Amino acid sequence: MTKKITTINIGVVGLGLMGCSITTCLLIAGHKVIAVAPIPADLLLAKKRITAHLKRSFKEKLVKKLPEYYLKNLSITEDYNELKTCGLVIECTIENIDIKKSVYKKIEDIIAPNALMTSNTSAIPISLLQEQTTRPERFFGLHWAEPSHTTRFLEIICGNKSDIKKGEYLYKLSHNWGKEPTLVRKDIRGFITNRVMYAAYREAISLVENGYATVEDVDRACRNNAGYWMTLVGVFRWMDITGVPAYHTVMKDLFPTLNNDIAVPKLIDDIVKQGGKGVANAKGFHKYTQEEARLWEETFTNFSYEIRALALKYPEDIVKKKLAARKKAQKKKQTK
Ligand SMILES: NC(=O)c1ccc[n+]([C@@H]2O[C@H](COP(=O)([O-])OP(=O)(O)OC[C@H]3O[C@@H](n4cnc5c(N)ncnc54)[C@H](O)[C@@H]3O)[C@@H](O)[C@H]2O)c1
Repeated sequence: MTKKITTINIGVVGLGLMGCSITTCLLIAGHKVIAVAPIPADLLLAKKRITAHLKRSFKEKLVKKLPEYYLKNLSITEDYNELKTCGLVIECTIENIDIKKSVYKKIEDIIAPNALMTSNTSAIPISLLQEQTTRPERFFGLHWAEPSHTTRFLEIICGNKSDIKKGEYLYKLSHNWGKEPTLVRKDIRGFITNRVMYAAYREAISLVENGYATVEDVDRACRNNAGYWMTLVGVFRWMDITGVPAYHTVMKDLFPTLNNDIAVPKLIDDIVKQGGKGVANAKGFHKYTQEEARLWEETFTNFSYEIRALALKYPEDIVKKKLAARKKAQKKKQTK
């Protein structure tokens, strides 16, 4: 299990939107990937999707080699037996505990006792998922953000029974995937970003439902406020940069007025009950023609590559690096 990164084979089970971009990320990092297709549609679509990601990554200079080079390390199969050689398997099937449970059984029947198993679940507690497995100590949440081959985000989540040492191994390993990972040492539903963001989604919907603003207004405000600083600083450094006492004052008066309903809001309930999926079928919070919806998907992809390029100029330790460079320059000056 502590073998060098590129020498461990990794399995990805579930080849939808995220399974394909996770596979792309791992191929780029140099792994051999066994990609298991649990449904026939995956077999039809996955190779095309992964190849398109690799092509675009080459065009954007994210990788140096053409898709064929990486695709040599990819095996797409319906056969779980091929997972036998994997040191890590990433489950990426739909957000349904019964389906995930049936998939874990198939994976565990094949993989070695010391191989790790993880789930890309958005919000099912890891402690609950690991109860569906025979070796809960080797089970973790591995929560990616779409598109996984361009984003730096990764949460590694321990369940109550996870072996923290193995979690630390995943943390180390994932640096080689181009991630700035976070190790969530204690299980909590929604982990970090989903808890923070769902509080924001609830408040945004409440503002619209109560007539304070339109969907367009809320999106415009968020794009131009948090959208500007979030990539650089997250939330705590933002408060540090803009002055902590003001937040203290505002919290006292604002918190009692924030929405804390526990029911799913009507606005989103209506959309889902009418079959709305968002840009995937041109039915969501905003109105779309089919062409507009497709263009939003395309625009999001373009933006993902551009913001990645910008974000890479600002790693988490940017200030530490600047300080080190400054010290080096001063030392050079003094020895002249
Ligand atoms: N979409 C996102 O942005 C996002 C972000 C973080 C986490 N996630 C999580 O990742 C997981 C996959 O999400 P996605 O967006 O790739 O979904 P998706 O709908 O694109 O793909 C789902 C995949 O699940 C598998 N599947 C479907 N029915 C199945 C069945 N009956 N039995 C076994 N497998 C089946 C198939 O491989 C299918 O392609 C979910 O748990 C989701 O919550 C998604």
